[in-house]
Amino acid sequence: MLFSELFAVHLQQLKSGELSTAVEALIENAFAMNRSQFWIRKNQPVRDAAGLRKFRKHFARLLAHEPLAYILGEKEFFGEVFYVNPAVLIPRPETELLVEKALDLAGSKTLRILDIGAGSGNISVIMALKSAAQITAVDRSRPALRVLKKNIVRFGLQKRIRVMAADLFPKQNEPFDMIIANPPYLSGKEWRESPAGIKLFEPEAALLAGPTGTEVLARIIAGAPQHLTPCGHVLLEIGRGQLRAVRGFLKSARLREMDTICDYSGIARVVVACR
Ligand SMILES: C[S@@+](CC[C@H](N)C(=O)[O-])C[C@H]1O[C@@H](n2cnc3c(N)ncnc32)[C@H](O)[C@@H]1O
Repeated sequence: MLFSELFAVHLQQLKSGELSTAVEALIENAFAMNRSQFWIRKNQPVRDAAGLRKFRKHFARLLAHEPLAYILGEKEFFGEVFYVNPAVLIPRPETELLVEKALDLAGSKTLRILDIGAGSGNISVIMALKSAAQITAVDRSRPALRVLKKNIVRFGLQKRIRVMAADLFPKQNEPFDMIIANPPYLSGKEWRESPAGIKLFEPEAALLAGPTGTEVLARIIAGAPQHLTPCGHVLLEIGRGQLRAVRGFLKSARLREMDTICDYSGIARVVVACR
């Protein structure tokens, strides 16, 4: 069988062909090729039996709806490749908007940043790579913290990112110049209706906030003033239709909304507020 046939035969087994890039990525991974090598070798026969076994095993996982990022054990975010496993949310492109805004505000200042619900560490790592900030990355999930630590080592950022297991805020009362969070924000209904790839494989605790979806956002906003310096900022990723509720939480916490950024589908996705 030629590589082009291997590709075509497996692509046919997937619905609508939308996952052609996934099949290509699995072939490249199993046979240790990069994209251009795949295209150069596409009319050559597949001779590597171990590679073929690996590809078939991975393809069966793809057919069972497992996200490609978990199969490959990595996901690109903000141009960098992060180690991921099912203990952490797969970083989403919308979250790049949150990071872009945070980088904008941080400029070249040496800010103290708190990343709440750090997961794989995607936000903390990019902030550390692209600004002068010192970061405290918090997560409540021990398995997620193991992934986070692995990524910190992968990028050599042990001196810039401190890791803590905590329920939203660190116990000691030190102030932060910026709080960034992409917390769980799905409602019970949204979680139940999520596609199989999400519901069967991604951690429920990373996505489901509670019956309304705004429970964790409400707690972060209520606690933020106590953990912010006088001119500190809070930047939050929020879900579809949550802006109104979030504005109410900000008002109650006496935080001033500064900016709202919509994602590529026009949904208010990032809210920036200050003390
Ligand atoms: C939506 S994921 C975001 C992960 C990562 N920041 C990202 O952008 O991909 C939310 C994260 O918050 C963590 N989390 C949920 N509830 C928490 C809590 N009460 N305290 C700390 N972390 C929490 C979850 O374990 C998960 O890693």
